[in-house]
Amino acid sequence: MVRKDSRLADIGKDHAYLTASLILDGTVKSAVAADLRKGPLENAEATVKAYGIADKVELRLSDGLTAISPDEADDIVIAGMGGILISEILSAAPWVKNEKYKLILQPQSHDEVLRAWLWDNGFEISEEASCFDDGKSYICMSAFYTGQSAAHSEAQILLGGFAEKDDEASAAFVEKKLRRVRVRLDALGKSDADNAEIEALKRIIDEVNR
Ligand SMILES: C[S@@+](CC[C@H](N)C(=O)[O-])C[C@H]1O[C@@H](n2cnc3c(N)ncnc32)[C@H](O)[C@@H]1O
Repeated sequence: MVRKDSRLADIGKDHAYLTASLILDGTVKSAVAADLRKGPLENAEATVKAYGIADKVELRLSDGLTAISPDEADDIVIAGMGGILISEILSAAPWVKNEKYKLILQPQSHDEVLRAWLWDNGFEISEEASCFDDGKSYICMSAFYTGQSAAHSEAQILLGGFAEKDDEASAAFVEKKLRRVRVRLDALGKSDADNAEIEALKRIIDEVNR
């Protein structure tokens, strides 16, 4: 999803393997690769040295986007964190609300929180993709700021566009999330439950079935 010849900001880069791969295959011209902690910075120094790409990669300590300047990146990757943390990182950097940036986001959990945040804050999700790694399904999405917030159903927030895709990884992702919805419905059915939540969960199942 990263655009050819863009300048990359890789936030939470850890070993910086993604940064290294995108530099080595010629996708990006340069990168700022940042992480909150010193350990990952040392890991990334070893990667950059091993692949001889130190002239194209700047490594930096940064809490989210706080140490990134708005004029030094075009494409911003935040991968391998929870959707809540990714939303918080974006909230703390209002300058990302600009159509020139492409956000490439790979939430490991709470992707519904991230979708809701993006849609509430004027972003459009332009692409979603899934894959299997080591038997687990992972998802990734890209987004641009448009300034327009659009209403979305509970099923769209929970599943994004994956219910309409027919590849195996998307189906596994949808099934995993629907299983949680059914477990929650069962639990609520056995308690003095809040009807509004039961109705919302049923609407999700109905919409996916349709
Ligand atoms: C699981 S690793 C993901 C590494 C890589 N992005 C990937 O997808 O393979 C998560 C990384 O995010 C970093 N991280 C967590 N919170 C962060 C924050 N607020 N700002 C920058 N980096 C953060 C952690 O230190 C860790 O290196």
